[in-house]
Amino acid sequence: MNADADPLLSHQHALQVLRDALERRLGELLPAGCESDVVARAMREATLAPGKRIRPLLMLLAASDLGASDRDPALLDLACTVEIIHAASLILDDIPCMDDAKLRRGRPTLHRQFGESVAILAAVALLSRAYAVAAEAPGLPGEQRAAAVTTLARAVGLQGLVQGQFLDVSEGSGARSVEAILATNELKTSVLFGATLELAALAADADARATEALSNFAQELGQAFQLIDDLADGVSGTGKDTHQDVGKSTLVATLGESAVRERLSEHLARADAHLAAACPEGEHTRHFVAAWFTQQLDLIG
Ligand code: IPE
Ligand code: IPE
Ligand code: MG
Ligand code: MG
Ligand code: MG
Repeated sequence: MNADADPLLSHQHALQVLRDALERRLGELLPAGCESDVVARAMREATLAPGKRIRPLLMLLAASDLGASDRDPALLDLACTVEIIHAASLILDDIPCMDDAKLRRGRPTLHRQFGESVAILAAVALLSRAYAVAAEAPGLPGEQRAAAVTTLARAVGLQGLVQGQFLDVSEGSGARSVEAILATNELKTSVLFGATLELAALAADADARATEALSNFAQELGQAFQLIDDLADGVSGTGKDTHQDVGKSTLVATLGESAVRERLSEHLARADAHLAAACPEGEHTRHFVAAWFTQQLDLIG
């Protein structure tokens, strides 16, 4: 069937075009994976293994809804920075002293392929590479490049992924209040979505009102995203270990599945309202988010 004739097919085709452009650029931005450089090969494997690419896609779509071109080379490179940081966070999340995971993106986890020392070093090198890519984003004024680096550094640091991961690892094996779980989920998951949308706003030169609405959107989306990830824990075919969260005080374990499904739809409704306020002219991101969660819920059953 002709992709242009069917809106769903043409939406999927457009996403595939963006995904291809992202993966091509990621391949260019990462060090060449020559046989003798094992850390470089590990960096490529962790990043280029088949992920869903939701963060960089969101950045491209949101910036385009705000009037930027999704072909803007600075935007493409900024989108790659969040995917590279995400890949680093997954490597660290999987290592034995954290979640001790065996499977990631349908493949053995990085430390299982390359050993723990290489995995840790690859994660550090990926984070460094992401900052350098943002600092050199083509065509952006120096002030905006500096702001992009600060945004990414904040998202990774002590008030971001690092703190979220620390709280999750140190407190997740005991009982936690709902508020504590939400606060941890915000740090470990929403904050990187926040940086993603902040960079979209920056690349699109969005005004303060739209930037604020996107930040609120990211917060709700991150919560929804972590809930669907927790709901999918017992499902096979995700490319990750099943029942990884047994014994962990996730919101699913604490409140039960049906309460979490209800919360999920509330987060999504609020996320959509913030998105509509941020981008009254463009609907690509809204369609993408709605279709993405519908698909994930179908997979969970
Ligand atoms: C997994 O993220 C980590 C969480 C924040 C739940 P993704 O579900 O985006 O993982 P990939 O990139 O598709 O592998
Ligand atoms: C997300 O939480 C952690 C990160 C932000 C890396 P999980 O530990 O649940 O993520 P998965 O399920 O391993 O992808
Ligand atoms: Mg974890
Ligand atoms: Mg994990
Ligand atoms: Mg999980």
